[in-house]
Amino acid sequence: MGQFDFSKRDSFGSKFGVIAAAAGSAVGLGNIWRFPYVAGENGGAAFLIIYVLAIVSIGLPVMLSEFAIGRMAQRNAFGAFKKLAPGKPWYLIGVMGILGAFMILAFYSTVAGWTMEYLFQSITNNFQGKDAATLSTSFDSFRTSGSSPVMWQLIFMVLTAGIVVAGIKNGIEKYTKILMPLLLLIIVALVVRAVTLPGSAEGLAFLFAPDFSKLSAPVILEALGQAFFSMSIGMGVLITYGSYIGKKDNIGNSAAAISAADTLIAILSGVAIFPAVFAFGIEPNSGPGLVFITLPSIFNNMPAGYFFSILFFSLLLIAALTSSISVLEVVVAYCTEQLGWSRKVATAVAAVAITATGVLCTLSQGPWDQLTLFGMNIFDLLDWTSANLLLPLGGFFIVLFAGWFLSRKQVKDEITNSGTTKAVFFEAYLFIIRFIAPIAIGLVFLFGLGVL
Ligand code: TRP
Repeated sequence: MGQFDFSKRDSFGSKFGVIAAAAGSAVGLGNIWRFPYVAGENGGAAFLIIYVLAIVSIGLPVMLSEFAIGRMAQRNAFGAFKKLAPGKPWYLIGVMGILGAFMILAFYSTVAGWTMEYLFQSITNNFQGKDAATLSTSFDSFRTSGSSPVMWQLIFMVLTAGIVVAGIKNGIEKYTKILMPLLLLIIVALVVRAVTLPGSAEGLAFLFAPDFSKLSAPVILEALGQAFFSMSIGMGVLITYGSYIGKKDNIGNSAAAISAADTLIAILSGVAIFPAVFAFGIEPNSGPGLVFITLPSIFNNMPAGYFFSILFFSLLLIAALTSSISVLEVVVAYCTEQLGWSRKVATAVAAVAITATGVLCTLSQGPWDQLTLFGMNIFDLLDWTSANLLLPLGGFFIVLFAGWFLSRKQVKDEITNSGTTKAVFFEAYLFIIRFIAPIAIGLVFLFGLGVL
């Protein structure tokens, strides 16, 4: 199918574009849908503390390493390792990333489909006057119905593919610059409404008053996995995006800004959701359905709730889109650069193959719920294994690669743009990626799985 012309590689157009696109990848369903329910299942505040700790001490260094590897190699997640470590098995990190893209986008597109249904229901004013119990029942009957969620999932994947096929600069960058600040505004508005609900204190206490007896090795692994998932690290998304970052950009600053935005939005989502959970008597550990039940309850109880629900689900959808694009891009960049496929063919093939996996996830919520492995249906299996196994493992090898395989000078040059910018944190960063991060990830991983 021909050869890829590397002199024609696409790239981001501006520094803010990089941050918007990468924050667009990071901020997604992971923050607004997954964080609250995983925190809810794992005891709340104590989980939050471990989560933030994981972001600062491990997530941020992994993110910077991904950017450095990608920008240094100017290649997709697989090709980057082939180029920087020819003849060595490091490219397997890229293989894992492509596998991860399939697993993540499969269940991600299921949930993104739910978001579209909920946007539709907002527009048709379907939540009005329903109490939390009714909203909970109707979410379950939708989720398990099969055909309707599959239809939304297909539409969502068409949208995702439609943007990816257009390339880097013209699609993602242009829209994320407008949409990400807007998303922040809407969440702040929801937060204000949530904390002024009667009974909100209990929800805030759940999120901010730690009960350390809730901590255990599996909970710590969940927090690490959630940090990785939320930051889009550990599977080559940010290696791929890093390869589109200009040589003059300061990748250390960008990584810090993106991590901060991602963490802030996750916490704000928690603040928007938990007060409502307690105010409306919903169980905080009610799993993946949590936001789809609590948010409509909030909208029912606020002035202009109708408009707010439309706005919110549109933005949730956009947040999902700007993330799913980045996942699909990993596979598409691989197919175009390594296999020489045209962008059109690569996008079509990747999207169809991923969607096929995704439909299994959607059906596992209803008709195929009985099909389980280790007590989890397909959806939960992909959700749990990708976040808690694949991403930490990917992160582990990425820091080993940057810390031990690449030379100190190579990494320092990449991060400081060959000494033209300052990186006072460099020694600390190097120490973390060489020692702290691999040991911490390794221990959390083994203890979390009960191996140690
Ligand atoms: N970070 C996104 C979210 O929070 C999801 C996501 C996008 C992702 N790209 C990723 C997760 C790569 C893991 C790896 O919704």
